[in-house]
Amino acid sequence: MSEVASLERPRPAVAAPWTTQRVRWVRHWTEHLFSFAIDRPEDFRFRSGEFVMIGLPATEGGKPTLRAYSIASPSWAEELEFFSIRVEDGPLTSRLVHIQPGDEVLLGRKPTGTLVLDALKPGRRLFLIGTGTGLAPWLSVARDPETYARFERVVTTHTVRQVADLAYRDFFTRDLFEDPLIGEEARGQLTYYPTVTRDAFERPGRITDRIADGRFFADLGLGPGFDPDVDRVMLCGSTAMIRETAALLESHGLVEGSNAEPGDYVLERAFVG
Ligand SMILES: Cc1cc2nc3c(=O)[nH]c(=O)nc-3n(C[C@H](O)[C@H](O)[C@H](O)COP(=O)(O)OP(=O)(O)OC[C@H]3O[C@@H](n4cnc5c(N)ncnc54)[C@H](O)[C@@H]3O)c2cc1C
Ligand SMILES: NC(=O)c1ccc[n+]([C@@H]2O[C@H](COP(=O)([O-])OP(=O)(O)OC[C@H]3O[C@@H](n4cnc5c(N)ncnc54)[C@H](OP(=O)(O)O)[C@@H]3O)[C@@H](O)[C@H]2O)c1
Repeated sequence: MSEVASLERPRPAVAAPWTTQRVRWVRHWTEHLFSFAIDRPEDFRFRSGEFVMIGLPATEGGKPTLRAYSIASPSWAEELEFFSIRVEDGPLTSRLVHIQPGDEVLLGRKPTGTLVLDALKPGRRLFLIGTGTGLAPWLSVARDPETYARFERVVTTHTVRQVADLAYRDFFTRDLFEDPLIGEEARGQLTYYPTVTRDAFERPGRITDRIADGRFFADLGLGPGFDPDVDRVMLCGSTAMIRETAALLESHGLVEGSNAEPGDYVLERAFVG
């Protein structure tokens, strides 16, 4: 054996930063919005509200395509649910929209994120403010019993362009209340607050406008404005919505939090644009 060969040691196998999971079900809400669930590996832990990289294997020798996705299931669930946009020419979603039960999806190994209860100071009311697919983390947080243990009242908002984009409307107005684990808490403590910007709807307009002009608080029977002593807020959606809502919250005296330093509100961009 040559000296060089004798120095060679078998290389430790480097695990890919993702695993391959099977699709369990797919539901299409509109041409542009769909949800699906995949198997949850036994060693996959996450906190409700976190996101993870998911993707599809490479085609024709290229690289796999992975993107960040909020996990829509609560931390106790047996499966991992996701709520997705379809971007016409999007490298991932133009393919992901065609997945079927039994297909394979790549799942990152390291969930992370700031839309978690741990990043908020204790409070009495929790506002989960989402636009478009920014509803996804609220599907997780609103199904976690810890949410109702920590907050007396939970308000989930969802602002979309068209009424048909109000995915999970039945979930927030019926199914969640019938859930054997958290139905009772949700019935007593959760309010769903949808708004629609480009169709006629009982509650028209952007959530930012409704907060700014006070209709939001009046509709909920609350005093005017957020109160930094009792109100905690999570934001998820487009960059512009987050920037504008964060400015509104700051003007009411709320301070941004993080995992390292819990605060009055936390945010995550569900997409850049
Ligand atoms: C922390 C985090 C969490 C995310 N969670 C989700 C989620 O739960 N569901 C989800 O559908 N997407 C989510 N996204 C966006 C996601 O990572 C991808 O951008 C999206 O799946 C589109 O991928 P793509 O390769 O098809 O197109 P991309 O090349 O990634 O995006 C193309 C363009 O489409 C627009 N776009 C992308 N995603 C969205 C979206 N969700 N809503 C509206 N416009 C969008 C943006 O203008 C973007 O520049 C998240 C992103 C981040 C950073
Ligand atoms: N959703 C659809 O039906 C649909 C259909 C075809 C294509 N697409 C494409 O998908 C992409 C994402 O669309 P999307 O509708 O999911 O996301 P979006 O454009 O972020 O809109 C989601 C909701 O957020 C509101 N919003 C936008 N900016 C805001 C701000 N600064 N403050 C407060 N609210 C704000 C929008 O109101 P406004 O309506 O006032 O902007 C809309 O009601 C776009 O590129 C779009 O062209 C979507």
